Amino acid sequence: ENTVKIGLMGLGTVGTGVVRIVQGHQEDLQKQTGLAIEIAKVLVKNAEKERNISLDDDILTTDPADLVENPDIDVIVEVIGGINPTKQYMLQALENGKHIVTANKDLMALHGAEILSKAQEKGCDVFYEASVGGGIPILRALVEGFSSDRITKMMGIVNGTTNYIMTKMSKEGADYAEVLKEAQELGYAESDPTADVEGHDAARKMAILGTLGFHVDMNLDDVDCEGISRVSAEDIAHAKQLGYEIKLLGIAQRDGELIDVSVQPTLVARSHPLASVNGVFNAVYVHGEAVGETMFYGPGAGELPTATAVVSDLVTVVKNKKLGVNGRGSVAPYKEKHLKTDDQ
Ligand code: HSE
Repeated sequence: ENTVKIGLMGLGTVGTGVVRIVQGHQEDLQKQTGLAIEIAKVLVKNAEKERNISLDDDILTTDPADLVENPDIDVIVEVIGGINPTKQYMLQALENGKHIVTANKDLMALHGAEILSKAQEKGCDVFYEASVGGGIPILRALVEGFSSDRITKMMGIVNGTTNYIMTKMSKEGADYAEVLKEAQELGYAESDPTADVEGHDAARKMAILGTLGFHVDMNLDDVDCEGISRVSAEDIAHAKQLGYEIKLLGIAQRDGELIDVSVQPTLVARSHPLASVNGVFNAVYVHGEAVGETMFYGPGAGELPTATAVVSDLVTVVKNKKLGVNGRGSVAPYKEKHLKTDDQ
């Protein structure tokens, strides 16, 4: 009973990082939580595949029931991504009383309220720090760090792939298609990179930031979105001559009682700290009525940065388990909506 058993769903870029961190930092994690963390089952597509990681063959499975229906498993770590069938797995896991840590921005942006209310009903934790900003602990900052303040505006560079592409185009005059391929090879891009370049990934992340920062139940339809596919090398060069960088920026702000959220390529003056966020790095600028200006910066994608966020959530779940509590001292999912729509 001194061990917490994990069912890991997915062994791609982030899943591999999770295994490496749980194994590599085992002693530290145990010191912090008072419990040992064991990866007991791993859901994969192909159990025969060669992997550059040390895991016993018998813990790999292709059957999700071995995780979500397994009474020995305490926590599900979900890093498969996508909505279907992942959502079903999550709801089943919660039904069976399992806590969840996920990196799934699509699922949390689109169905977060449903997942969180099921979790609350079952007394389970659902944490999703890795869904926004890779290794930057921005969700914790919003939920805990600014709980006393009233946030007025957030501006985010929240997609590593597009920032990597735009940076290389700006600094090296690199070719769009080639840099996109590099970002894919580095494990930054989504399996279908359309979600990155058309701004959908950033829009989902802004919906999550908006929900947590402004205490509203926001969904994707509320986010106006334009990606980088219409930004040319000439646009970038012209902007530079005038002292600007073009960044794919998510902006979420209060407009009276309404909340306005959008994603679009934006001219950022070189003197603004967001202008020097380069490569795969992400940043979220947060303005609060009392605190004033703050900015959070760090690697926004990639194996170990994203896995750091996942495993830190896992540590919170394990600590909560030890203490017999849930959540981050946070409350129910928000119900009210005060959103700016086209007809307002
Ligand atoms: N495709 C995403 C990005 C991965 O490039 O930011 C991290 O969410």
